[in-house]
Amino acid sequence: MIVVYSLGGSVLAAQDSAGLKRYAETLKMISRDNQLYVVVGGGAIARDFIGRARGVGASEALCDSLGILATRMNAALLAAALGGSAPFRVPESYDDALEASKTYRIVVMGGVSPGQTTDAVAALLAEYARADLLVIATSVNGVYTSDPEKDPGAVKIPRMKAGELARMMSQIQLKAGSRSPVDPLAAKIIERSHIPTIVLDGRNVANLIRAIDGTHDGTEIRG
Ligand code: UTP
Repeated sequence: MIVVYSLGGSVLAAQDSAGLKRYAETLKMISRDNQLYVVVGGGAIARDFIGRARGVGASEALCDSLGILATRMNAALLAAALGGSAPFRVPESYDDALEASKTYRIVVMGGVSPGQTTDAVAALLAEYARADLLVIATSVNGVYTSDPEKDPGAVKIPRMKAGELARMMSQIQLKAGSRSPVDPLAAKIIERSHIPTIVLDGRNVANLIRAIDGTHDGTEIRG
């Protein structure tokens, strides 16, 4: 299978060296039978730099550019933990990522262009690579009927249609202060290309394997 992982920066940034090694070893194991692309998020470094850039009056697009640099730093760190199993030079475009996949079973990259997040990069890469599966490994264990941090009645949705996800994500973003588990642009891409997608808790490294063998307890999204 061709699998694209969107690995949240919040997931990876929480890892010490031993944790990073665990993610690297797990990805190497999965790559024995699958071609992998891993798109890494920016996490705390991105938020720190964006916050300070905004504070000095930088434009939103410039803030995004700093966020992209942070995602590429996190990607380079994971590539380092993967040793020679992934290219050390982080691809900066979809073309470069596809080219690198001719040589490497694992390709790690970060952000690409302003105005989106790495979830959208992962969804677009899944389109380019004609991936069989997109795994959004984030800091929540699936898509809920409402924000579980605010609504005690929120229920996890085990299975949903891509159109339903796209509608939900666009509504969530409109409400101030609430966070969306999947970037609305990524949800739109998933909807238009019918990419089989799983949203799960990436903080447990074993879930990366469970996404492949179907034993995960996240949310499955189908066209
Ligand atoms: P992330 O994808 O990490 O967003 O990109 P996030 O929502 O903070 O996710 P976590 O916390 O890592 O899970 C960080 C920032 O980098 C910029 C955006 O500003 C984004 O919020 N970015 C990233 C882009 O502008 N374009 C990209 O392609 C990727």
